[in-house]
This record gives sequence, C-alpha cells and structure tokens, in this order.
Amino acid sequence: MATTAETSAAELQELARRHLWMHFSRMGAYAEGAEVPIIVRGDGCYVWDANGHKYLDGLSSLFCTNIGHGRADVAQAGADQAKELGFFTNWSYAHPRAIELAAKVASLAPGDLNRVFFTSGGSEAVETALKLCRQYHKLRGNGTKYKVIAREVAYHGTTMGCLMATGIPNLRAPYEPLPPGGCHVPNTNVYRLPEGHKVEELAEAIAHRIEFEDPSTVSAIILEPVQNAGGCFVPPEGYWQRVREIADFYDVVLISDEVICSWGRLGEWFGAQRFGYQPDIITTAKGITSAYAPMGAVIASDRIMEPFLQGTTSFTHGITFGGHPVAAAVALANIAVFEEEDLNAHVREHEPAFRAMLDSLRDIPIVGDVRGAGYFQAIELVKDQDTKESFTHEESETLLRGYLSAEIFKRGLICRADDRGDPVVQLSPPLIAGPEQFEEIESVLRPVLEEASRRMHVHGA
Ligand SMILES: Cc1ncc(COP(=O)(O)O)c(C=O)c1O
Repeated sequence: MATTAETSAAELQELARRHLWMHFSRMGAYAEGAEVPIIVRGDGCYVWDANGHKYLDGLSSLFCTNIGHGRADVAQAGADQAKELGFFTNWSYAHPRAIELAAKVASLAPGDLNRVFFTSGGSEAVETALKLCRQYHKLRGNGTKYKVIAREVAYHGTTMGCLMATGIPNLRAPYEPLPPGGCHVPNTNVYRLPEGHKVEELAEAIAHRIEFEDPSTVSAIILEPVQNAGGCFVPPEGYWQRVREIADFYDVVLISDEVICSWGRLGEWFGAQRFGYQPDIITTAKGITSAYAPMGAVIASDRIMEPFLQGTTSFTHGITFGGHPVAAAVALANIAVFEEEDLNAHVREHEPAFRAMLDSLRDIPIVGDVRGAGYFQAIELVKDQDTKESFTHEESETLLRGYLSAEIFKRGLICRADDRGDPVVQLSPPLIAGPEQFEEIESVLRPVLEEASRRMHVHGA
C-alpha cells in the first residue's frame, strides 16, 4: 500500500471508480476518466479534497453540517456514547439518550408537537410520517383517507412511499407505477406564477385538489416551509395560515417537511416558527446532528398520537437504527452547540448581508431571480432578464454540467447548480458563516456568472 499523500489520492481515485456507486451520479463519466471529487477533511466552513485543495462548503454538505465541520466536542460525545452503550434499539426499548433527545426536541418544537419517533434519515422520516397519517385515519374510522397532497417539483425523498409525494417527474418515472395516492398542486414559485394564478390564491389550489379528489380519500398535505427543489420557493404572506385552515376543514394531517428547513437553516429551530404556523407533524433530519451521525425524526402532536394510546393499539412501524444512541448523543451535543453559540440569532443577524451580497449579483445578465430565507438561498439563471426566458433542456445541460458546476468547484466553492426545475445555483453555507465567507462566495460567483452569461449568449451580455 503506497503511503505518500499523492499516491494514496491516486489509489482512492482508482478504487472509487471501480467500487463506489455514488448517489444521483452519472457514473459513466467517472468510468470514462472524469475525476471523482474525494473530500477528506473538514474544519469550520471549509473542506479539503484528496489533492489538498481547500473549498468553501457553500452547501453545508447537502444542507447538513449546520454547525460546521471538525467539531471535536460533538465527535467526542459520539465516541463517549459508543463506549457506554454502542447500540440498543428503540424497537420496544428505550435508552437514556433517545429519551433525553426526544424531550429536548419536544421542548424546542412549536406548540404541542411532543411525540418524537426517530429514524435514520430524511426519507425514512417522510415515509414514517406518511404511514403514520394513514394509520391515524384508520384508527379513527376513516380508512379511506390515503392520498397525499404535495407540490410540483418538490423533493420529499427517494423511497417508494416518498416518491409518491416527490413532484419531480424525472425521479418518479424510472420507478412507476408508484404507490397510489400522490396528488400534486402548484408550488409557490412567484417568479413564474402560472397564467391566471394570483399569489394570494396559491393555497387555494390545495383546497381545490382536495375537493377534486374527494376529502374522504385525502390523508395528508406535505409541504416544505421553503421548497428546496426548483430553488428556494418562499411561501407568500398568509400561505401557511390558509393551508392550516384547509387541513382543519377537511380533516387532513398537515406535515411540514423540514428535513432542510429546521435546525437554524432559516434562523429558527424549525421553519414553522419562522413563518408562524402550527403543523400536526414535522419531519426532520440532516441538521439534527449536523450530520456528525445519521439521524432523522418525526415530531407529532399529542392529537396525532392520541389514537395510538388506546388499548392494544401500536404504530406498526419501526426501523432498527431509529434513535441510535450514538446519533442521539451527537444530536444532544449538536443542539448544545446551537444554544451555547446562539446560532439561530447568528443566522438572523447575518441573513441580510448574505442576501444583499447575492442581490448585488443581479446586474449580471444571467441572474434572473434571487430568493430564499435564512442561510438557504438560490439564484435562478435565465436567458433574458426582461422576459424571464429560461434555457432549454440542452442549454441547461451545457450551462450547468458543461461549465458552471465544474468552474465553481475549480475555484474553490461547493454549491449546487441544479435543474430539477429551471436552472438555479443554490447556496446554503454552515450557520457559522459570516461576512468573510459571503465575500468569498461573491468572488467566485461573479466572474463565473459573468463568463456564463457570455458563453450562453444571454441577452445583454
Ligand atoms: C425536504 C426533504 N425531504 C426529504 C428528504 C430526504 O432525506 P434523506 O436524503 O436524508 O433521505 C430531503 C433530502 O434532501 C429533503 O430535502
């Protein structure tokens, strides 16, 4: 086995190409010789690759490392727990860290969201929530309620149940037929409001769809506080409050899918708190441990739990690793960092400067829109700022995969150039980021977006 850093990097490349099946990745490109990006170390807002190059982690490793990389205290909490009790399951048993974490999460969650069911990640949390809603209705004598209202272009995870809610045709198509029941309504992309729609009426699409489907068949509404896929669609004023009324009126469970939008991403513990609404269920993951260990959770209200407390009833669902003691200990240590460093307040304080920096890029012809909340922002790229004309699929491919993604990475910034809707660049840095990191992001994005405007012959470039 070679020992120099250089040789071992080459060896890692070779082994990765031969054996590692990366998620959502065009593996053919690596088979043909493209370099696998291999990240070996992290510290604060930065990571280093196997070649020794430093990057600003402008996406928090997929919206995960909220407290930043390299926190020895959080790692130590996991190590200490592994020594004390490496594993015991929450399947018929409890252990101290899961109990303490459930109580902590309940104390931070809005209203009466007091019941916490742990999972190993976000898809499992969504899958669990969808099953929970169905059984909840069945236990209350409403066995025909199984459909789920979700939004177009929304991402809710990849298991077959989650895909029913996910509203991205390309992710659904290879696995059809999916479990029945997914019903999609327009999202809150106010930059591209469909003809005939008014911003203040967007929530009504949910009521119309429930009526169309027959309310006696509808189980749940699942929405993100700010929709990720498509590029950080923020809810218009009053949207969530109206959705709450609709859910109550039709006896439909309201799920706030906060796999990204919790744990400070929007400057609050939970996205629901940022926009002032009360869901029946929150699904979360990622930032709950800042991804120092894999974990997700479903946080349900006392009302949703109530039918499960009767007689011999149980929620007939479980996942071996849900509530893993090491992950629970890490989550407790992670939340302690949030409290000690007041990270939610830090995000609220610096959000305007982050946003102002991104807004300052609007003079670049390819920048069509800038939107988002907290440390969760997106730039939509267009062919023409005035008409909002978007790129064709082929142009988008040339723009994002032929230039933008590689160039941004080459210049030392990790962010996401995404075209699950119209092409966007997404930025979601660790919550400890501040003016220095904002400046760095701008110093990479400005020249790259200017060059992209020229290459794509954008109007005005
Ligand atoms: C809103 C939302 N729901 C669910 C998921 C699925 O989470 P995971 O990838 O941890 O399974 C994601 C992942 O990004 C997400 O953003």
